[in-house]
Formats: sequence, C-alpha cells, structure tokens
Amino acid sequence: MAFSFSSLMVTLALGFLVVFTGKSSAQLSTNFYSKTCPKLLNTVKSAVQSAVSKERRMGASLLRLHFHDCFVNGCDGSILLDDTSSFTGEKTSGPNINSARGFEVVDDIKSKVEKVCPGVVSCADILAIAARHSVAILGGPSWNVKLGRRDSKTASLAAANSGVIPPPTSTLSNLINRFQAKGLSAKDMVALSGAHTIGQARCVAFRNRIYNESNIESSFAKNRRGNCPRATGSGDNNLAPLDFQSPNKFDNQYYKHLLNQKGLLHSDQILFNGGSTDSLVSTYASNSKTFNSDFAAAMIKMGDISPLTGSIGEIRKNCRRPN
Ligand code: HEM
Ligand SMILES: *[C@@H]1O[C@H](CO)[C@@H](O)[C@H](O)[C@H]1NC(C)=O
Repeated sequence: MAFSFSSLMVTLALGFLVVFTGKSSAQLSTNFYSKTCPKLLNTVKSAVQSAVSKERRMGASLLRLHFHDCFVNGCDGSILLDDTSSFTGEKTSGPNINSARGFEVVDDIKSKVEKVCPGVVSCADILAIAARHSVAILGGPSWNVKLGRRDSKTASLAAANSGVIPPPTSTLSNLINRFQAKGLSAKDMVALSGAHTIGQARCVAFRNRIYNESNIESSFAKNRRGNCPRATGSGDNNLAPLDFQSPNKFDNQYYKHLLNQKGLLHSDQILFNGGSTDSLVSTYASNSKTFNSDFAAAMIKMGDISPLTGSIGEIRKNCRRPN
C-alpha cells in the first residue's frame, strides 16, 4: 500500500513536471513517420538539395532557422508564422529581421511533403530535417533526426526579442548561460557555434568588432572594413562570410580562424579569448572528427528543446499560418 501510494505520487509528480515545464521529449523518435510518411526524408532531402544547388548559402539559412525556432519557446515552428493585421510573430524580432531567410524554401518543402502525405508532418519537424540535410549536403556530419514535434498555433515577438537568442555582442558568460537555460552545455554551445563555418553575416552584426576590437588580426579586419563602412546606417546589410575561407563548406575551418583571431563576430572570437572555452576551440580546430560528432550530438539536443507533442498544438497545413 505504502509502495503503490508513493509510486503513484512519483507518477503524478512527473506528470506535473511535464505539464508545467513542457520539457518532456519522450515522444520524439527517429521513426515517428515511418508508417505515416515513409517518403518524408527523401522528399525533404531532394527539395533541400535543389534549393542548395540554386544557392549554396541556403543550407546555412535553413540551419539557422531551426536554431532560432528552437530557442524561442521550443522547436515548434513558431518562427515560420507570418504577421497578420491582428498578430505579430517572430519575423520582425531583432535576431530575425533583415536576417532570417529561407521561408520560401520551407514553403516549397512543405508543399512537396503535403503532396506525399497530406496533413501529417509538422513544419517544426521539416525545419529539423532540413537543417540536417543542409549540413550533410555541405560536407558536414549527418545524424538521426528525432521527429514527432507539433506546430504552435502562435508565436512570440516578445520572447524572440528577450535575449533567449543571444546577440553577437554577447559576453562568454552570457552565451554559456543562454545555452544552459535551454539545457545545452558550454561544450554544446561551442560545438553548435561551429555552424558559423557556413553562411553570411551583415555589417551591422560585426561593425564594432572590425573597427573597435583589439583581439582581431589586422589584415582580416582591414579586409572586412572594405565592405562595411564605419558610419552607422551605411552598408548595414552588406554581407561577409562567417568563414571567409570556405563559406559553403561545413568543415572545422571556423575554429582555425578563431585560433588566428579571425572570428567575424564578437561572439565567435570570445570563444577563444583566454577564457574557459579556449581548449574546446583548440580541440575542434585540430580534430574535425571530434567536432563533427559533438556538433551532431548537440544538434540532437537542440532539436529536443520543449517540443509540442501528443495532441498539443497542430500540424499546420501552411507553415506561415495556423490552420
Ligand atoms: C552562440 C550564439 C550565436 C550567436 C550570437 C549567433 C549570431 C549570429 C549572427 C549575428 C549571424 C549573422 C546574422 C546576420 O547578420 O544576418 C549569424 C548567422 C548564422 N548563424 Fe548564428 N549565432 C549563434 C549560434 C548559432 C547556432 C547555434 C547556429 C546553428 C546551429 C547558428 C547558425 C548560423 C548560420 C548558419 C548563420 C548564417 C545564416 C545565413 O547565411 O543565412 N548560429 N549568427
Ligand atoms: C567604437 O566604440 C565607440 C565607444 O564605445 C562607439 O561610440 C563607436 O560607435 C564604436 N564604433 C563602431 C564603428 O562601432
């Protein structure tokens, strides 16, 4: 009697934990759609492949969408919702405005998936699969994507602006804390930052670094200044590669740049600046296998952030709006 009472209490307590924190990811699984949508992975793969062959940068943009989705109220497709006259979503938030891209490609993937299995696959899962294929197509590791997320019916501009997605001006402790708040370790954070081995950043995101910081290699800074004027407001959207050597190749070059003070963002170089993460950067710079496997493991953890599962949320028909 005492035993069954206490196990009942444990069960109840766990249930409350799940209900009130939304942290359960027990229901995500790699074979979630194996019966209901067996063609899913190949459908997404060929759509990502064709988008990336049209524009190599798209792989980076799709990877980043999954990150920005997961860090704001969990991986729930909220970043994909368009603003309406009565609703403002996450697209105009500081981290996303003039920056997050790839929404048309997500629409294209979604419509192809809807053709093979209508009403079954969430937009949140499409982002997770597209991120995986993007990395693999550009030469990075692959991993088994866990699936079964459902889509939110709403989005939060305030949450997207709250700093949960850390800004490029962040201190190291802010980066560590922001990832910790999502259940990701400092090691996960350093490995995931390796995503900056692909893609582009706008002048406005690195201007202060190239004009004002001292832990930057001088010829690199000079080159970057060439396409990013000092004056606020001029050339703000001019682009520079996050990894100038191989911006379309998913490799460990990003970390090698950090060793040479050639990180583009303040938040990149701060990972190798005499602090607690220096040794991880050195490890990843010299060992691409370790980087690949830590990156893959951290992507799986990131994809596990507070998913909507079971009967919560919905499977959106159109990723841009609730049903
Ligand atoms: C550690 C904290 C992070 C900070 C402060 C940060 C910040 C930034 C900034 C400022 C940009 C340039 C945006 C622009 O100027 O338009 C950028 C681009 C990018 N970020 Fe991050 N990021 C972080 C972590 C991550 C993570 C975890 C991922 C994915 C796993 C990621 C993937 C990317 C990619 C792929 C791009 C290039 C996107 C494109 O070319 O469209 N970042 N990031
Ligand atoms: C450099 O730093 C100064 C002092 O903080 C600031 O006023 C100025 O805007 C910065 N310059 C750039 C190009 O960011």
